[in-house]
Amino acid sequence: MKSIQIFQFGAPDVLKIRETSVPEYGINQVLIRVKSAGVNPVDAKTRRGLGFIAEKIKNNLPWVPGYDISGVVEAVGEQVKTFNPGDEVYGMIGFPERGDAYAQFAVAEMNEITRKPANINFDHSAAVPLAALTAWQALYTAGRLQSGQRVMILAAAGGVGHFAVQFAKHAGATVIGTASERNKDFLLDFLGCDEFIDYNDFSNMGKFSDIDLIIDAVGGEYGMQSLMVLKNEGIMVTLPTITADKILETAELAGLNATGMVVKADMSNLNSITALIESGEVKVHIDHIYPLQDAHIAHEKIETGHVSGKLALAMP
Ligand SMILES: NC(=O)c1ccc[n+]([C@@H]2O[C@H](COP(=O)([O-])OP(=O)(O)OC[C@H]3O[C@@H](n4cnc5c(N)ncnc54)[C@H](OP(=O)(O)O)[C@@H]3O)[C@@H](O)[C@H]2O)c1
Repeated sequence: MKSIQIFQFGAPDVLKIRETSVPEYGINQVLIRVKSAGVNPVDAKTRRGLGFIAEKIKNNLPWVPGYDISGVVEAVGEQVKTFNPGDEVYGMIGFPERGDAYAQFAVAEMNEITRKPANINFDHSAAVPLAALTAWQALYTAGRLQSGQRVMILAAAGGVGHFAVQFAKHAGATVIGTASERNKDFLLDFLGCDEFIDYNDFSNMGKFSDIDLIIDAVGGEYGMQSLMVLKNEGIMVTLPTITADKILETAELAGLNATGMVVKADMSNLNSITALIESGEVKVHIDHIYPLQDAHIAHEKIETGHVSGKLALAMP
């Protein structure tokens, strides 16, 4: 089979396509013929050697990046009763250390995959798990979202953000999304934001002081400054793990609540997301689909920080 591997950390050109053997699966595992793999910023940060996952895998290269897959069950271990060959599945595999999604075949634990949404194709399905689970867990678990609250999503046009807007609307929140002007129609018309804020002029934030929940998918200085819109009893959930400690410290000094989080491959959450996709209430937006061998171009694109929705890698 073909897979993408890195043998050292570095720029996108360290991603090499290689001929490797189909992985072996255990009695409790599922072998999947991958049709498409989703691309996330964490794949590129780890490839550069940044963040907590790089720290864990640095002495264990080569590494096959990626966590999001959709595909067809090829074979199952003898103790697997819930999946059968031919089932169409999707999920988040091998997070955080193993990865393994950028490949024509991948092994999943039973609790890392579930039935794929029937109404969207494999590329759109592969674009869902990690970003949508992050949005779901940030809003409902870490953010304790309640109907009627005012929620601000920083980077509402991105992979996590575009799901977060739609989930928050589904929960009955008023949603304010930040993006650049070119994404204004995407936020208001496609995603259903109640209000659009152009982040290029920070003074636009000045009119808010009543936000119950901020989902910060930007981090750094921008995340830190955005704390000013939070109500006293509100909460910010900051997602980029590299800057989370600094933001939590700033929030504490200001007497505000902020928390970090790390996404979990929770299939009960993913089944709830599947139901919203199948009912048509939640749409998956793909910015671009690349062939597997162009994984380096997909990484260049995600590193611009200006993807709208998601990127996927289609298998040969
Ligand atoms: N902790 C966790 O478990 C976890 C899980 C998932 C993701 N994350 C992290 O969360 C972050 C977001 O992930 P993602 O997949 O959503 O990224 P993404 O899809 O690459 O985000 C791209 C979006 O960011 C927007 N953007 C860039 N700068 C912005 C700014 N200053 N203000 C508002 N929007 C801005 C862009 O909009 P424009 O094109 O309009 O500029 C673009 O639509 C990443 O750092 C990722 O690593 C953490």
